[in-house]
Amino acid sequence: MNDSIRTARRTVLTAGAAALAGGALTACGGGDGAKPESEAGSAASSSSPPSPTAATAAPVKALAKAADVPVGGGTVLKEEKLVITQPTAGNYRCFSAVCTHTGCLVNKVENGSIDCPCHGSKFKDTDGAVEKGPATRALAEKKIKVTDGTISLA
Ligand code: FES
Repeated sequence: MNDSIRTARRTVLTAGAAALAGGALTACGGGDGAKPESEAGSAASSSSPPSPTAATAAPVKALAKAADVPVGGGTVLKEEKLVITQPTAGNYRCFSAVCTHTGCLVNKVENGSIDCPCHGSKFKDTDGAVEKGPATRALAEKKIKVTDGTISLA
């Protein structure tokens, strides 16, 4: 009897240890469940390299003619998702045209502000700072250069 009780205890203990190990494995399994997401992220980032390559080629591309950017106004480049402003004569600035609120493209520059049509955010044409929400973050500024009357990314 004692041997059968010990055997039964061992069985219970072994089963308990297995359950714990199983629990631990289950916990790891939960972690494994997150792996596909990170792998998906890796896959996404592995598919990203072509974009930086394309972005690398962008700086040599002419964005606009300086003469086409009005003083006190600006030009929205929808394809490039950029906005170029000229707050004062000869002072050109360039910002991301993607509104920091929820990602609409800004659509005009007037009265010293870059305007988003979706929810009314306004950004300063001098530094991209928020003038009026709901956006809370400034438009990202891009470095540009003006060469022979042509504006391109620096
Ligand atoms: Fe520009 Fe909402 S996306 S104000």
